[in-house]
Amino acid sequence: MAKKTTPRKVALVTGGAKRIGEALCRALARSGYSIALQYSTSGTEAEQTAKRIYKDGGVCATFVCDLADGQATENLVPSVLEEFGRLDVLVNNASIFEKSSLEAGSVELWDRHFAVNLKAPYILMRAFARYAKTGSIINILDTHVVRNKTLYAAYLLSKKTLAGLTKMAAVEFAPRVRVNAVAPGLILPPVSQKNGYLDRLAKQIPLQRKGKVENISYAVLFLLESDYVTGQVIYVDGGEHLI
Ligand SMILES: NC(=O)c1ccc[n+]([C@@H]2O[C@H](COP(=O)([O-])OP(=O)(O)OC[C@H]3O[C@@H](n4cnc5c(N)ncnc54)[C@H](OP(=O)(O)O)[C@@H]3O)[C@@H](O)[C@H]2O)c1
Repeated sequence: MAKKTTPRKVALVTGGAKRIGEALCRALARSGYSIALQYSTSGTEAEQTAKRIYKDGGVCATFVCDLADGQATENLVPSVLEEFGRLDVLVNNASIFEKSSLEAGSVELWDRHFAVNLKAPYILMRAFARYAKTGSIINILDTHVVRNKTLYAAYLLSKKTLAGLTKMAAVEFAPRVRVNAVAPGLILPPVSQKNGYLDRLAKQIPLQRKGKVENISYAVLFLLESDYVTGQVIYVDGGEHLI
C-alpha cells in the first residue's frame, strides 16, 4: 500500500547517482517529475544528487538495487509505487561497459552484460507495463548499435538487443505505454580514460565535437513530451552513426 500518492508525475531513473544518470535525474526534476533514483554501489553520490534536487525545489527518493540480481530488480517498480503511489516514466540508463571480443570474451562477462544491460531493463519494462500501466519508457542505447566492429562485443550486443526490445515493447505495450530510446555518442569518457580522449575521437565525426550530458537530457525530455512518437531511437551523437 502506498504511503501517499504524489500529485507530481514520477520518473524512475536507473544508474541515477552520477554522470549521465545524474543529469537525467536533475533535468527531470526541474521539469516537475518526482525522482526515484536507483543506484547500486554509488550510495554517497546518490544521496548528493538527491540533496541537489531538493535544493533546486524538487523531490527525490533513492533506491538501492543490484540490477544483476533478478529478484531485487523485480522488486524495484513495486517499491517505487509503494513510496510514491504512482510511476509515469522509466529511464533504463544503468549499464556496464567492459572490453571483450567474441573470441576472447568469457561467458561470465557475457552473462553480466546481458543481466544488467538487457535483462534488468526487460524486467523493469515488464513491471512498468503490469503495475504502472500507462506512461513512457526510455531506454538508453549507444550510437554504436548501428555498427558491427567493436572492442566491446558483449556490451554492444546487449545494446543492439535492447534496441530491438524497445521496438517490440513499443508495439506490445501500445497504446498505454510509449517506448523510445536515446543513443548517445561521445558524451563522457569511460572512467578509465583521461581528459582529451573524447576530443581526439570527436575530430572524426560530422559535428567535430563531443556532446554534453544536457544533450541527452534534452532528447529524453523531447521524447516524453512527444505523445505521438513510439518505437523511435534518437541518436544524440553529432552524426557519428551516419559514417
Ligand atoms: N558515457 C557516454 O558517453 C556514453 C556513450 C554511449 C552510450 N552511453 C550509455 O549511456 C548510459 C549512461 O552512461 P554513463 O557513462 O553515465 O554510464 P556509467 O557511468 O558507465 O554507468 C551508469 C551506472 O550504471 C550503474 N550500474 C552498473 N552496474 C550495475 C548493477 N549491477 N546494478 C545497478 N546499477 C549498475 C552504476 O551504478 P552505481 O554507480 O550506483 O553502481 C553506474 O553509475 C549507459 O547506458 C551507457 O551505455 C554513454
